[in-house]
Amino acid sequence: MGKITAAITGVNGYLPDYVLDNEELSTIVDTSDDWITTRTGIKERRIMKNGASSDMAAEAIKGLLEKTNTDPMDVDLVVVGTVTPDYVFPSTSNVVCDKAGLKNAWGFDVSAACSGFLYSLATGAQFIETGRYKKVIVVGVDKMSSIIDYQDRTTCVIFGDGCGAVMLEPNEEGLGIQDFVLRSDGSGRDYLVMPAGGSLNPATAETVENRMHYVKQEGKQVFKFAVTNMADVSAEIMERNDLASDDVDWLVPHQANLRIIDATANRMGLSSDKVMINIKNYGNTTAGTLPLCLWDYESQLKKGDNIVLSSFGGGFTWGAIYLKWAYNS
Ligand code: UT7
Repeated sequence: MGKITAAITGVNGYLPDYVLDNEELSTIVDTSDDWITTRTGIKERRIMKNGASSDMAAEAIKGLLEKTNTDPMDVDLVVVGTVTPDYVFPSTSNVVCDKAGLKNAWGFDVSAACSGFLYSLATGAQFIETGRYKKVIVVGVDKMSSIIDYQDRTTCVIFGDGCGAVMLEPNEEGLGIQDFVLRSDGSGRDYLVMPAGGSLNPATAETVENRMHYVKQEGKQVFKFAVTNMADVSAEIMERNDLASDDVDWLVPHQANLRIIDATANRMGLSSDKVMINIKNYGNTTAGTLPLCLWDYESQLKKGDNIVLSSFGGGFTWGAIYLKWAYNS
């Protein structure tokens, strides 16, 4: 028997219906379509008016089960990357298993901000590679509108809501996840953080009054770290796996800013037609960006394609995963 690798065997997404475009945002805060488009590449984002992260995840999972012809009772584990869990506890994964009817599965949440899906994918893959499990679902979901301050023009133009989910199954043809490089640096916590609501600053009238339950970001600082680290880690995973630019079929970059994506692609020597980009339509959905890219581009992917996923986010957290796509749609 060959070595077991963990392969993605299906992908599905869920996006709320409501479209918040740059024009509407310009009536809420002092901004413009021109500023947002040139600085970030975003035109519109989706907003979930009712419901929680678990509702998006449950919808994405139900569609995924249908697409992959999977009996809900056969799912072993659900790993959910999110920084907008339904509650502090129980975990969103726990709620999702109930809402999606995954009676035999257990799960947990992974808090790694924009790298939530990467961390979760690497973690979920371990359970397949050891031979312990046959079906693991990995979700990246965030309802960013629940922690965004719509009086703060520096953050509210960037983020949106959305969810993507993938099925992981054992593969003996050498397809699936080949390698990962994951990093974190907690000294970055001051630059991108939701200051209150945790054990450091529990909710009080004062934390609410001071708007501390919203995302705070020092954009310029985060930008500097993101450009360097996302490019570095993507180059590192290519080197480690002897991948030349021509060997890489697709880059799946975290969708935070078109300029960061371009810098990463340049460093890897990739032309723009090999880079998945959907930031224009959804903005930054945090843990949702990578699986939503895979979902949008699924029909263009071919069995054996070399794919590098790469992200940078709050924490700081960052990393890259190299995988071989396992199926033709
Ligand atoms: O996904 C998690 C990781 N996050 C990231 O990767 C985000 C990284 N950072 C960025 O993408 C960029 O820094 C931003 C898009 C957040 C901001 O772009 P920037 O080019 O770094 O702008 P800036 O923060 O330096 O602001 C430039 C100017 C400022 O005005 P002054 O001080 O030059 O007069 C801001 O007040 O733009 C102003 N500004 C805005 N103007 C119109 C900031 N936000 C807005 C806005 N509309 N929405």
